[in-house]
Amino acid sequence: MANAAELTVDGKSYSFPTLEGSEHEKAFDISNLRDQTGYVTLDRGYKNTGATQSGITFLDGEEGILRYRGYSIEDLASKASFLEVAYLLIYGELPTQDEFATFETAIRRHTLVNEDMRKIFDGFPVNAHPMAVLSSLVSAMSAFYPDSYDDTAEASTDQHIIRLMAKLPTIATWSYKRSLGHPINYPKNNLDYIPNFLNMMFALPVEDYKVDPVVAEALNVLLILHADHEQNCSTSTVRLVGSSKANLYSSISAGVSALWGPLHGGANQEVIEMLEEIKNGGGDVNKYIDMAKNAKTTGFRLFGFGHRVYKNFDPRARIIKKAADDVLAKLGVNDPVLEIAKGLEEAALNDEYFVSRKLYPNVDFYSGIIYRALGIPTNMFTVMFAIGRLPGWIAQWKEMREQKEPIGRPRQIYTGATLREFKSIEQR
Ligand code: CMC
Repeated sequence: MANAAELTVDGKSYSFPTLEGSEHEKAFDISNLRDQTGYVTLDRGYKNTGATQSGITFLDGEEGILRYRGYSIEDLASKASFLEVAYLLIYGELPTQDEFATFETAIRRHTLVNEDMRKIFDGFPVNAHPMAVLSSLVSAMSAFYPDSYDDTAEASTDQHIIRLMAKLPTIATWSYKRSLGHPINYPKNNLDYIPNFLNMMFALPVEDYKVDPVVAEALNVLLILHADHEQNCSTSTVRLVGSSKANLYSSISAGVSALWGPLHGGANQEVIEMLEEIKNGGGDVNKYIDMAKNAKTTGFRLFGFGHRVYKNFDPRARIIKKAADDVLAKLGVNDPVLEIAKGLEEAALNDEYFVSRKLYPNVDFYSGIIYRALGIPTNMFTVMFAIGRLPGWIAQWKEMREQKEPIGRPRQIYTGATLREFKSIEQR
């Protein structure tokens, strides 16, 4: 058979078809491997496993390419609005003016969150981490919209998509306001998506707040850069949870939890804390490079460095690094941590340990410096990532449903005890 993979095991030969994606990524189709051979594959961390065929995001880690639905991240970040990109990811095409107006108006009209959700929110400790609040309240949304349990109701899916897109920024700002002891702000639907979020974050009842267009534009770019990244940890979580036919809110809530981890979206908070620590310790970046090189004994990793897929520059990091310079200059912010980050990057990129392992700055390395310049507090960084990633999670969940994928259920190689005889407690 042409383009087939031959496998010989236990003296027998088997043939498995190969397949190729639209960007020439190659795969062995082993869907029938266990049925035919009795073997499964072992692939810790899914480093070689294609969990699905997807038409949403293409990334080439060797070449440092990232595209949403065929459009380059560089083009989208410089020319599109976040909501246009959200539409593109979720529905597959850039919207026409009419399509965009319908989508945007629907989101504007759903920004208000049910007042009973406030009672749940009020039960959280004042210093609760905003990611804990976010995942809980997104999960709670499923209780407020029980029609989301009916997975045959295709029509209402759009309604849930709109609700999530509209309400996530509202919920996200609540925990910040509360941590300050300030009243929460209701959405103002005469404002666009990002200005509305900024207003809820920063406005106070006692004075006027005017959204700075530099801040809104910087946030637009950051949200676009975070909007999707194919089968990463949180997206795979969303797809896996959704594959059991769990509703959209529960699936997204699980994604928020997965994103929180410091090896994933939580890295943006870790980066800024690490840079602060370097600054407060006198700015010796080489000490931290050495600690990272001895990760096996120190347990320390250079946060914001390395990526499972990118073995070249993360294209998002390139855009963010330039944006950090621009935004800080435009806002007149002088953050010493930016120089420390640049020094750390330079030292790492010239160090054999990082070069040989192809470890480059990732999306999280410079994003926190921009968030900080925009006035967003450190413990909200990963929440910002979640707001950006939401359309990607939704798009992937929707694609998974439309492709009628089976429930996700990996196998294992059991290494525990073999059959043992039960002894009653007196005999043990
Ligand atoms: N600092 C020091 N060494 C590192 C780092 C790092 N940040 N990242 C990887 N390495 C080393 C690692 O010790 C290993 O070395 P060796 O071959 O000697 O054992 C080698 O590089 C390969 O690392 P790995 O852990 O096998 O790679 P992975 O693909 O499993 O992990 C990663 C990818 C992103 C989890 C990892 O690079 C990391 O922990 N980075 C720091 C956390 C971070 O910035 N995460 C954000 C990722 S991008 C945005 C997102 O996904 O949310």
